[in-house]
Amino acid sequence: MKKPFIVILTGAGISAESGLSTFRAQNGLWEGHDVNEVATYEGYQRDPIKVHEFYNMLRRKLNDPQVQPNAAHFAVAQLEQQLGQDNVLVVTQNVDNLHEKAGTTQIIHMHGELLKIRNEMTNEVIFCDYDVDYTRNKYLRPHIVWFGEIPLDMSYIYDALARADYFISIGTSGNVYPAAGFVQFARQHNVKTIELNLEPSLGNNLFDQKIYGPASKVVPEFVDTLIEKFKK
Ligand code: APR
Repeated sequence: MKKPFIVILTGAGISAESGLSTFRAQNGLWEGHDVNEVATYEGYQRDPIKVHEFYNMLRRKLNDPQVQPNAAHFAVAQLEQQLGQDNVLVVTQNVDNLHEKAGTTQIIHMHGELLKIRNEMTNEVIFCDYDVDYTRNKYLRPHIVWFGEIPLDMSYIYDALARADYFISIGTSGNVYPAAGFVQFARQHNVKTIELNLEPSLGNNLFDQKIYGPASKVVPEFVDTLIEKFKK
């Protein structure tokens, strides 16, 4: 059987069971921090040291040895291994590196990466797993896509969505565009759409199939059914 091309969108929910906060849950990141202050360019211009402290804190959390990929990340990586690198593309809104740590190689971080900083003068992107000291270099900003900024690799993502056989959305609430619009775009291209989430997302009615529960449980189960279906 011809192997399908699968695009997988992931959000903060896939990393929740690895100990990383989501954004909009009761104890989520946006409960304790003002989005306008730490996730907009205007906020960065107003108080860059405050913004760097916020991402330094998140980076330290990500570097905590306790924070490791969970069964959902490993299942997504296994799907790539089983179906092949040309048949699975992960598009993540997450800025953590847990997909890569689980073995995923075909991945786009459309909202940037916590373990990278960018030189605003040269646009050079640099690996960074340490606290950034803004007073030592004023041109280094977090390599994060803030509200009001354009996400990364959008034309590549839309090309992939248009030719996909499956669009699987995992652990995202559907609050933030353009990612929240991918399901509608996929439907317009006759792609089979599946939502795997703890609870219905804002766009849940647009999905052909929906399975609710913790990612570490529902993602491995769903991946097993796909691998079984296409291994012949
Ligand atoms: N398993 C599966 N889903 C989960 C789990 C879990 N263990 N825990 C939470 N979820 C689901 C929640 O039900 C919710 O629908 O994950 C979703 C997380 O939603 P948000 O916190 O809104 O995060 P996300 O959708 O990734 O946010 C999108 O918003 O703040 C910006 O740039 C930021 O990339 C982020 C974007």
